[in-house]
Amino acid sequence: MAATLFHPVSHAGTTDLRSDLDLSSEALAQVLDTTQQVKQSRQRFASALKGRSIALLFEKPSLRTRMTFELAAKQLGGDAVTQAGIIGEREPLKDIARNLDRWTDAIVARTFSQKTIDDLAHWSRVPVVNALSDLYHPCQALADIFTLKEQFGRLKGLKLTYVGDGNNVAHSLLLGCSRLGINISLATPAGYEPNADIVEQARCFAESSGAEIQITNDPHDAVIAANAVYTDVWTSMGQESEAAERKEIFAQYQVDDELMSEARQDAVFMHCLPAKRGQEVTDAVIESPQSVVFDQAENRLHVQKALLLMLLQ
Ligand code: CP
Ligand code: NVA
Repeated sequence: MAATLFHPVSHAGTTDLRSDLDLSSEALAQVLDTTQQVKQSRQRFASALKGRSIALLFEKPSLRTRMTFELAAKQLGGDAVTQAGIIGEREPLKDIARNLDRWTDAIVARTFSQKTIDDLAHWSRVPVVNALSDLYHPCQALADIFTLKEQFGRLKGLKLTYVGDGNNVAHSLLLGCSRLGINISLATPAGYEPNADIVEQARCFAESSGAEIQITNDPHDAVIAANAVYTDVWTSMGQESEAAERKEIFAQYQVDDELMSEARQDAVFMHCLPAKRGQEVTDAVIESPQSVVFDQAENRLHVQKALLLMLLQ
């Protein structure tokens, strides 16, 4: 099933989710559709991955990703094993990949560098899934887009505004939204804009889907007519030494009641979590009825079940 939907195929001949770029629009639609099915009926898929197992590798901390991948594998009748540590420190990455692919059916990895994901995919004979790198967080964006669909009953023509750092989450949202015809506006401080190559790729997708893309430094302009206002931490994992400097630079980019009031009246507030209340978002906004952050977190489980089904069945 996956071979026709995921592209391009890696060196090892497997289908991977190295980044959002590995998902065609058809694959994206299938992920959303399969997610809907697994969310509706846990029982129907309870043995779908019987006898299959996945390896989870974490170079950085995680609550949601680790728990939801472990639970996803188990709820599908399969198994998951998790290891924390820097990939390639104790032995070469190419040996790790060629051990894991003898024992497991997929490798899910959270890494500092995107290159580590790409190299794992290169050496492994089983699919590799990006569970967050410096450049992308595709599983998060998929859960977020599914959440938008649940909230609004449609995707095309919606407007999502992302306020904050042009980081991994921003990149994956940009690619996912532009593929699906969701208008996306990103407001970042100068110097913290999203990666120019990724923006260009998104503009390319938008030409086919009809999505509008705005990259700006003005959060107030960006939130006008937004159906969803999204933010993420100002300092991502691995950037801790910049935290104090970033707190000052990003001070005008906090999502507070005033900024939310400039979006559509029925706009939802979104955050991938973990959140730093008092920095990128106020406690009032994240705790407000507009906040769908726990729906997003729940949907990580359902989306990742769908991904595992598509990659392993
Ligand atoms: N949103 C997300 O990926 O959360 P974790 O870092 O806890 O996995
Ligand atoms: N941008 C954040 C996302 C955490 C889920 C980080 O990389 O730390």
